[in-house]
Amino acid sequence: MRKKVIIGNWKMNNDKKETADLLLSLLKETWKKEINVKVSPSFVNLENAEKILKNSPIEVVAQNMHYENEGAYTGEISYKMLKSININSVIIGHSERRTIFSENDDIIKRKIVTALNNKMHVIFCFGESSENRNENKHYEIISEQLDVVMHSLTKNQWNQIILAYEPVWAIGTGVNATPEQAQEIHKYVRNKIAIAYNKNLANSVPIIYGGSLKPNNSKEIFSKPDIDGGLVGGASLSFKDFYSIIKSID
Ligand code: 13P
Repeated sequence: MRKKVIIGNWKMNNDKKETADLLLSLLKETWKKEINVKVSPSFVNLENAEKILKNSPIEVVAQNMHYENEGAYTGEISYKMLKSININSVIIGHSERRTIFSENDDIIKRKIVTALNNKMHVIFCFGESSENRNENKHYEIISEQLDVVMHSLTKNQWNQIILAYEPVWAIGTGVNATPEQAQEIHKYVRNKIAIAYNKNLANSVPIIYGGSLKPNNSKEIFSKPDIDGGLVGGASLSFKDFYSIIKSID
């Protein structure tokens, strides 16, 4: 059975104390051990978060990293720095990185290659804009975005990947994809992996959904057969909402 994954992407929110408070609240709670819960605080809070969560099943994930190992890249963070504080997973390809910070498929690919070659796990985000969907180009766009990983990864490297479908029009808008819309895309993606590799591999890759996930819509979205969890933005900033989203997949 595929693992279930719930990730809180805190984006540029939560200072040191807010980060610690939220984590301490989460630490008091329990859920089935098959559910992998991860949180992604800002860079400056990663090390403290990691210390607070040591010996807990909750994993700390970085929101970004650079593709080079080191060098003159002011303001950037390398995989080496992340690994040196025990961070072994990173979100790559988030739509905010693609649009606000102009990350194209080439940059995203380089980041993924660096992460995978250095034994990091990658939460790889993809998803269409509302224009793409209105023009009925969503499958085409998603397919192009996925080609960054689709044929180049070895079968083993897929063990290091979680795919996250995040339609841009659903991020932070309060308008989530319907469970049917999300399922349709997840199924399409799984089928694409089956064609490029094989069915067994396709069935082993977790594909999670992100975009206005809330306690009142998560259960129905998670009930779909190809949806293995969620990447939660806004609602993960509230302990109560995040915990109820975790429980909704329980
Ligand atoms: P929201 O849950 O705030 O829509 O954000 C989703 C997201 O971008 C998670 O990475």
